[in-house]
Amino acid sequence: MDKIRVGLVGAGHRGRAMFSLAAKGFDFVVPAAACDIIPSNWYEKQWLVDEAMAVTFPDTEFYTDYDEMLEKANLDVVIVETGADIHAEFCAKALAKNINVMTDIPVVANMEEADMLWEAAKKSKAMISVGANPNEQKFTVLLKEAYKKGLLGKPYCMEAEYIHWSMPKSDEEVHLNENGDWRRLLSPIRYCTHSLGPLLTVVEEDLRYVSCFATGMHADEEYFAKKDDMSCAQFQTESGVVVRLQRAGRCRANIGHHNYRVFGTEGYMERIDRFDKPVIRYNYTKEDDNALKEIGGEYMPPEYADNERAEGHGGMDFALLDHFFKAILNGDEAPISLKEGLRMTIPGIYAEMSAKKGGEVLKIRYPWDDDNE
Ligand SMILES: NC(=O)c1ccc[n+]([C@@H]2O[C@H](COP(=O)([O-])OP(=O)(O)OC[C@H]3O[C@@H](n4cnc5c(N)ncnc54)[C@H](O)[C@@H]3O)[C@@H](O)[C@H]2O)c1
Repeated sequence: MDKIRVGLVGAGHRGRAMFSLAAKGFDFVVPAAACDIIPSNWYEKQWLVDEAMAVTFPDTEFYTDYDEMLEKANLDVVIVETGADIHAEFCAKALAKNINVMTDIPVVANMEEADMLWEAAKKSKAMISVGANPNEQKFTVLLKEAYKKGLLGKPYCMEAEYIHWSMPKSDEEVHLNENGDWRRLLSPIRYCTHSLGPLLTVVEEDLRYVSCFATGMHADEEYFAKKDDMSCAQFQTESGVVVRLQRAGRCRANIGHHNYRVFGTEGYMERIDRFDKPVIRYNYTKEDDNALKEIGGEYMPPEYADNERAEGHGGMDFALLDHFFKAILNGDEAPISLKEGLRMTIPGIYAEMSAKKGGEVLKIRYPWDDDNE
């Protein structure tokens, strides 16, 4: 294969961005087809694009029916960018036709979907890779490197925060909710993937237990559905590794923070969003002075720092697509596997259930638990 025919499902703001980046950033990509149930997303100029997608991509076939696109467009790849709680069925349909998939996160909305997609992937000859862009960020790359070199020892306690202002304060921000309701409706802890994904790259066990509390609703804007503003979850693996996560679905803090801290038996690493300058700090007992060192915490993965095409969330989106396309061209395994995607998604599903039960400790099941029985 020397060309990759790419199709998109879900042409909201994220879908439009990923499709454009795939088409413009990679010479071998053919932007073959796109699908959305709202045709104006394609035919009219939308937020954050210079002109209508149909003008930028005149040769791309547009569909309103996903099955028809899969049937007619002769695709090698489908990029799934539908709302955050409706990915699994689109992925499974493409896999059934042996079309490679890159899906955004969270991967599934419930355990039925998790089991269904796990089985669909096993049966397919195609690859499914998970579009978890935080797993491509500089912090995650350095964390994995330090772990592999033994500089962190065994991580035994970790924490993350994803605090994001999400009360529309301008017309622009309302556009973020232009097509679907997932931002208004989804329980904040279900959007745990951006936090758990990076941390779980250095934990060899699955998160097995969870207890979660949620704040209830403290914003009275009519715009918002009745859901918790914030959730705080604690997870534990079978051997006792503890992970603490705070997620804000909406709050009065006018910030967007992704913070991570990893405590290991031999060292420590953190990424802290400090004012407008995020930093990464670390120290390792095995190094000469064990002093705390500080470097820039920007997202750009070091591998792409000099690549002019590396755009999208500080270069993470480009890295995601580059690794995905290279794996297809080389016949390699998925760069971010379905298992990794479910490991970062399913704990949030159980955490939401725990919060609804007043923080009851729940045992987390994964589709592959049955495979090992
Ligand atoms: N990783 C990141 O940095 C990041 C950032 C933002 C959003 N996201 C993810 O991107 C995805 C999309 O987010 P968004 O903000 O663009 O959402 P959105 O709701 O604006 O867009 C989703 C689109 O899917 C379309 N759609 C729904 N059902 C469909 C169907 N049956 N057939 C075809 N199209 C259909 C909708 O019409 C809509 O245009 C979500 O999964 C979200 O989690 C990821």
